[in-house]
Amino acid sequence: MGSLDRQRGRFLTLEGPEGAGKTLMAGRLADALRMRGVDVLLTREPGGTRLGERLRDLLLARDSVHIDPLVDALLFNAARAQLVSEVVRPALEAGRVVVCARFADSTLAYQGYGAGVDIDALRELAAVATGGLAPDRTILLDLPPEDGLRRKAPDDHTRFEAAFDLDFHRRVRNGFLDLARREPARFAVVDALRGVDEVFAGVLSAALQGLARTPA
Ligand code: TMP
Repeated sequence: MGSLDRQRGRFLTLEGPEGAGKTLMAGRLADALRMRGVDVLLTREPGGTRLGERLRDLLLARDSVHIDPLVDALLFNAARAQLVSEVVRPALEAGRVVVCARFADSTLAYQGYGAGVDIDALRELAAVATGGLAPDRTILLDLPPEDGLRRKAPDDHTRFEAAFDLDFHRRVRNGFLDLARREPARFAVVDALRGVDEVFAGVLSAALQGLARTPA
């Protein structure tokens, strides 16, 4: 039996620093899996629910109120808890494949490695918010922050691109790489500096490997 015939819920996430191409790659991945007959639900963080999209506006607006890093972590996890209960769990229980642009690793990288909130506390917070749900496969689109930040017009910059300096974004990138080193079975690291088609080939192959695996 082909691995994709075994339709079971699987949870795939894409992570990475700013400008890594997660949105584009998540969309292309969802399309490619659908072409293979996989029932895919595509979503993103923060967002994916009405509450999550409203929190997204608040969290990303450049002219937003000052937000303490711990409060950022709480708000991202609030959006996450809503997404998991309203969207992700029901889809997984229905046997669908969920593709999500960003998830709990982003809080560890940004609020933890980037802004200095205690990593163990963040892990506990995420465990509560997600009810212990972890991705089956996480694809890390890696690139230096200078290159990622250059890919977006300054007018499109979010609070994270506008108000946090290059050193913050370097810590975020290194944080993601550290997370990937600690969990090599879950993470696949894809070099996001290459051409779009090459990057996508890496993303698709990592996703198919994740789907072929027997869930834990
Ligand atoms: P994006 O949708 O363009 O990736 O923007 C989301 C922004 O929010 C990005 O700058 C990363 C940041 N973020 C965090 O700081 N913590 C989180 O937990 C998540 C999900 C995103």
